[in-house]
Amino acid sequence: MTRAERFLLLLLLACGGTSHPVASPRDETDWQREVAPVFDGTCKRCHLPAGSAKLDLSSAAAWLQHADSIKSVLIARSMPPEGPGLTDEQRAVLLGWLQSR
Ligand code: HEC
Repeated sequence: MTRAERFLLLLLLACGGTSHPVASPRDETDWQREVAPVFDGTCKRCHLPAGSAKLDLSSAAAWLQHADSIKSVLIARSMPPEGPGLTDEQRAVLLGWLQSR
């Protein structure tokens, strides 16, 4: 982990208390617009309700519920576990969505 990433992690942990577990209609709309395109291309094949990862991440509600572990895998760059990873820009979009909740 670089210094910048460690800083980002601390920042996210510090903000952790502000996220709320219930997705509003606006959360869903924003999720569809911002997160879904990246999710569809990079996470969906394993993270659907019946996916191999056994962790359904196909909605804003699921992202809010699992926000902390999603932030961790994005910062650690541990997902996707194989193949081309996310670009910095894609990670920023996903983290940005989580952080703005
Ligand atoms: C090739 C299949 C595959 C892809 C693609 C994939 N995942 Fe995963 N993911 C898994 C599996 C399998 C697990 C459970 C085992 C593990 O933790 O390694 C997992 C676990 C997770 C977890 C839980 C980690 C924890 O510590 O509890 C999160 C969060 C996650 N994935 C997010 C993502 C995101 C976000 C993407 C897209 C950027 C993604 N995954 C892409 C297979 C995948």
